[in-house]
Parts: sequence; C-alpha cells; structure tokens
Amino acid sequence: MSRSYMNDRWCVRCGRNTPNPYILKNEKILESVCNFKNHVIADIGCGNGRNTKYLIEKGFNVYPVDMVDDYGLRCHIGKDNLPFENNSVNAFLLNYVLMFLSESERKQLYGEIDRCSNNSACISIVELYPAKDSYTPNKESLNTLQEEICNVLRCMRFNIIRNSKDGKLVALKNIFNEGE
Ligand SMILES: C[S@@+](CC[C@H](N)C(=O)[O-])C[C@H]1O[C@@H](n2cnc3c(N)ncnc32)[C@H](O)[C@@H]1O
Repeated sequence: MSRSYMNDRWCVRCGRNTPNPYILKNEKILESVCNFKNHVIADIGCGNGRNTKYLIEKGFNVYPVDMVDDYGLRCHIGKDNLPFENNSVNAFLLNYVLMFLSESERKQLYGEIDRCSNNSACISIVELYPAKDSYTPNKESLNTLQEEICNVLRCMRFNIIRNSKDGKLVALKNIFNEGE
C-alpha cells in the first residue's frame, strides 16, 4: 500500500499490477455489455491503471480517470465533471475508490454517473473495502456505504445482479430484467 498527499488529499494505491480478481470474475458480463469497439468503459479512480491496461489488451475501449494524472486523465471527483458526453458510457469501473470520497463528492459522482450512463446498456462494477484513512474504516461503515450505492443505482434504474457481503457488487441497466 502506498500513500501520497496530493491535491490536499490522500491518494492511496496498492501498488499491484495485476487486474482485480473481481474484474476477471465479471469479465464475461462486461463483455456482453461492451461488445462493440465503440462501447465506452470509464475506469473511475483508475490508480496505476492495472484494470485499464488489462482490458485495453483484451480489446476494450477504456478511459481511465483519477485525481492524480500519472496514468489516467486528470479528474478530481467532487470538483470536475467526468470527461464523457451524456448517455455515452457503457461501463463504470468503481474499484476501491468510493470509500475515499466524501458524501458531497459521492453525490457529485452519482449525478455524473446518471448523466453519462448509456440508456440502452450500462454496467457498474463496484468494489469497496474497509480502509484506514478512508470514510469507511470498518465493516459497519462499509455496509452502510454499500447500501447507499445499491439504493442510488436502483434509483438510476440499474438492477443489482451481484451483491456480496464483502463490499462487491455488479449492477446492470437495461440488460437483463431479472435482478437481485
Ligand atoms: C485504492 S486506489 C484504487 C485504484 C484502482 N481503481 C484499483 O482498483 O487498483 C483509489 C484511487 O482513487 C483515487 N481517488 C481518490 N479520491 C479521488 C477523487 N476525489 N477524484 C478522483 N480520484 C480519486 C486515488 O488517487 C487512487 O488512485
């Protein structure tokens, strides 16, 4: 785990270069949503780009963003809008980032996801963990955040198709009608 203080915030990175196992686990679902070359995947809080790099190698069209621009496009959630057109994003990767956002930053991000998510096909893959130095340092706060995310995604007409107790979830909009 590495931490650097940037833009008045902690940027916390694990330093791993292999993609997250949860991305691998959900690769087939991701593929079924993002099955055209022009389908857009937004890697929000991309860190060192381990997931973006893996998916680009697999032929996906991925746009990484982070408050630190050493790998992705610079975008400070809470201050900057996501660099995507309305209704243009087919997948949001939100791996280990939402715990580092304050309530107002999360609110801004939710609005941006709603604005940018494609109305005919969109998937969100979310991973959380109880990180020290984050807004969810323990299991209880993590559960509360997970519930908040599920509720917000449901309001945006996503179906929660996977929702595990360890802070991982997958939500689909307009793909399958059976959910939860
Ligand atoms: C633990 S890392 C996760 C990186 C990557 N998603 C992964 O799974 O390896 C959290 C990332 O969120 C970024 N981040 C934290 N707060 C942010 C904000 N307000 N806006 C944009 N990025 C932010 C940090 O810079 C860091 O790269």
